[in-house]
Amino acid sequence: MARYDIVQLIEAAKEARKFSQARYSGFRVGAALITDKGEIITGSNVESSSYGLSICAERVALTKALSEGKKNFGAIAIAARDGDFCPPCGACRQLLFDYAPDIDVILTNGRENKTYKLKDLLPVAFEESKLSS
Ligand code: THU
Repeated sequence: MARYDIVQLIEAAKEARKFSQARYSGFRVGAALITDKGEIITGSNVESSSYGLSICAERVALTKALSEGKKNFGAIAIAARDGDFCPPCGACRQLLFDYAPDIDVILTNGRENKTYKLKDLLPVAFEESKLSS
């Protein structure tokens, strides 16, 4: 993976958070995914009055990117409340793993960052190869 600008990616996640549609939980999240070509695709969480239909910022960013033909991702940055890190939920970890198993996951609390390998956040993952074995 080409190097990426972590500060720029975090800024994009914070910017995306501004578009969060979190009218039920009030918990606003932004995410920014970067491709190996340096393209950044953002997402925010979008909630529904039928709560279970709500979708996380990470999956919005990923599905936006994939549906526009973008692939080969290097990292995703996630920004939520100031002062708090927001680790991706289990569903997001799985979907990210399916399409971008080698990415870095960058969490910011607005002041500090933490970077993880997605593989460390989803050990012993279910994956595509299990479907055919
Ligand atoms: N949410 C995200 O967008 N990303 C996460 O990593 C955790 C949770 C959203 C889903 C829901 O809209 C709200 O935060 C509260 O769970």
